[in-house]
Amino acid sequence: MKRKVKENIKLYRLGKRVQNDYYHKLGDKLNYEELSKRPLRSDIINFLLGVSSKDAKYLEIGVRFPDQNFDKISTENKYGVDPGFENRSNPVDFKMTSDEFFGKLREGEILNSYMKFDLIFIDGLHLAEQVDQDIKNALDFIADEGFILVHDCNPPSAFHTNEIHDYKLSPAMGFWNGTAWKAFFKYRQNANLFSCCIDTDWGIGVISKQLNIGESTSVKNPFFEYKVLEKYRKESLDLISFEHFKNRVLEAKDKST
Ligand SMILES: C[S@@+](CC[C@H](N)C(=O)[O-])C[C@H]1O[C@@H](n2cnc3c(N)ncnc32)[C@H](O)[C@@H]1O
Repeated sequence: MKRKVKENIKLYRLGKRVQNDYYHKLGDKLNYEELSKRPLRSDIINFLLGVSSKDAKYLEIGVRFPDQNFDKISTENKYGVDPGFENRSNPVDFKMTSDEFFGKLREGEILNSYMKFDLIFIDGLHLAEQVDQDIKNALDFIADEGFILVHDCNPPSAFHTNEIHDYKLSPAMGFWNGTAWKAFFKYRQNANLFSCCIDTDWGIGVISKQLNIGESTSVKNPFFEYKVLEKYRKESLDLISFEHFKNRVLEAKDKST
């Protein structure tokens, strides 16, 4: 009995420590701020499909629950890829990993190898190496004036970038951006591409081959340190509002016609 009481006191003290902990309080605040931002990814995708070709082709890497984004996308020509790790019913066109999908697409085993998408949304495995691979593959299958979108490029704290997905007791409290930002930052340094990041919905990174939506970054962060991202966040990501982004897209479209 005495042991049980002691254990309960220990738990109570631990709970109190967590409740009063600076990083947990900050995590709460950052989550609240991020969740309050608008628009969400579906509206951004629909805006970009609206300025693309008439029968715009859309590809989503990592769908999970279609009602959260895929079903809201307003084009008939849409395709989803997901191996079904997080949703057993997995109602997508291609039940496989993104690597398998792009491999089969390249070989002409699915769709056709000349196919170019107007928008590819990368939201599968959120680890830098895989996101890098997804961006690399997407660049081969995106239209010249198309857009590659990468979710979760603006993690609000280092805790949100933990490589261990299922640890939920950190100050990020179950919200997880993984290390997607590192892959996006790699392409932000490429002077042959245009890119920026919309400051909403955990950071929507956008890359375009031909439309000038933002110049590359000169921020040096060779070891992809979170502290450097934090200090030079705006310049590293070219972090802008959706209003600003819309203006850049419309201007770039005007110039291209
Ligand atoms: C964050 S969820 C996608 C959320 C969805 N795009 C949305 O906007 O609501 C990530 C999904 O990626 C899938 N996934 C994990 N590894 C993958 C891989 N290698 N290739 C493609 N999808 C993957 C998971 O099964 C999961 O359903």
